[in-house]
Amino acid sequence: MRSSSSLHQQGERVIDRCREIAAFTEVPGEITRTFLSPPMRGVHELVREWMESAGMSVRIDAVGNIRGLYPCLKPDGPRLLIGSHLDTVPNAGAFDGVLGVVLGIAVVEQLHGRRLPFAIEVIGLSEEEGIRFSKPFISSFALAGKLDAELLAHVDANGISISDAIKSFGFRIEDLPGAGLAPETFAYLEVHIEQGPVLDSESLSLAVVDAIVAQSRFELTFTGQANHAGTTPMHLRHDALGAASEWVVAVEEYAKSHAGLVATVGRVTVVPGAGNVVAGQVTASLDVRHSDEGICGAGVSELLQAASSAAERRGVRVVSRPLLEQASVPMDSRLTSLLHGAAERAGHPARRMCSGAGHDAMILAPYVPSAMLFLRSPGGLSHHPDETVLPEDVDAALSTAMEFLCLLRDDRSTLKDDHA
Ligand code: HGY
Ligand code: MN
Ligand code: MN
Repeated sequence: MRSSSSLHQQGERVIDRCREIAAFTEVPGEITRTFLSPPMRGVHELVREWMESAGMSVRIDAVGNIRGLYPCLKPDGPRLLIGSHLDTVPNAGAFDGVLGVVLGIAVVEQLHGRRLPFAIEVIGLSEEEGIRFSKPFISSFALAGKLDAELLAHVDANGISISDAIKSFGFRIEDLPGAGLAPETFAYLEVHIEQGPVLDSESLSLAVVDAIVAQSRFELTFTGQANHAGTTPMHLRHDALGAASEWVVAVEEYAKSHAGLVATVGRVTVVPGAGNVVAGQVTASLDVRHSDEGICGAGVSELLQAASSAAERRGVRVVSRPLLEQASVPMDSRLTSLLHGAAERAGHPARRMCSGAGHDAMILAPYVPSAMLFLRSPGGLSHHPDETVLPEDVDAALSTAMEFLCLLRDDRSTLKDDHA
């Protein structure tokens, strides 16, 4: 189902397309595209064009997922979902998420009109990173039918709710059921950059993901007493930033002393934030991850306790707000071994590994058998403008995906009778 020469040009072409999408940003000069922000309209137009010229019928659902359907011989036949997210972190790279959408379109293009015993739906998910609402995975929750009233009422920094954001982009809340997984969907494949150093350090192109680590995200608010920096003696202060700073160091120390645990304070906001005022209030993020959810949970409790003690020592109050409690999620073992076999058949030995990054696959896996294929991240860099991929690794991923289609086609147990 593939000719290596035609595949080779694909790598460069996929990378060029990812860079075309990167031009749609909220911040000129960097790549920042959050949930249903205006630049997403331009992305939809470009992706629609590519999907339609690949022979797909295209729709955009009520949470802004763009969905291209490449039909199979049997109307309403079984459906393989391939995709990832189109939103980004602030000042992002061009490939996190986007690569999985563009590569999905390239897979369909490689079929050159041939029909399979299953349809392929390529999906560009509108919100995975959780930047605008501090709530990640909005669009895959919608796919899973879990975008409930509580989540819809969640507001961003400007007091705009998810439901308002959906309506002001031109969608209707009553259409949310149409943003669900199609009932014919029998598998989900997400191709994604590793976003870490493992493949690069082992000079490998690809990895097949066994599981995605557990992750917990919180927002902590330290409330002390703003006061004059010149007239307030040190022993009479209730310095919110002093408490938060002691805690941030404790977070780093704790994670360093627990193998496999990562804990990050990536965002700190100080109020009033003036150099001559003792900080009255500090809001800080907390992101804790480990492949074992028990160790992750224990870490969270220790670190929340550390925040209370640092606050108490300064007569500062601290409250924490959970934003995400996500258990570790195994990928579907059958699909994962097929994907591993596909990589071997394509001539690219793929190691197996755990994903330290969260992905839409972790939300979808309980609802549809899911598998993930990683591409090397040169320099191990991601969530950074210098994030990149190598054309030869994209070719390797594409040829693996084409072999994966063959193995799915020939594997009766994956295409269950009610699907076949
Ligand atoms: O944060 C993550 O793990 C992913 O990039 N959303
Ligand atoms: Mn990301
Ligand atoms: Mn991602």
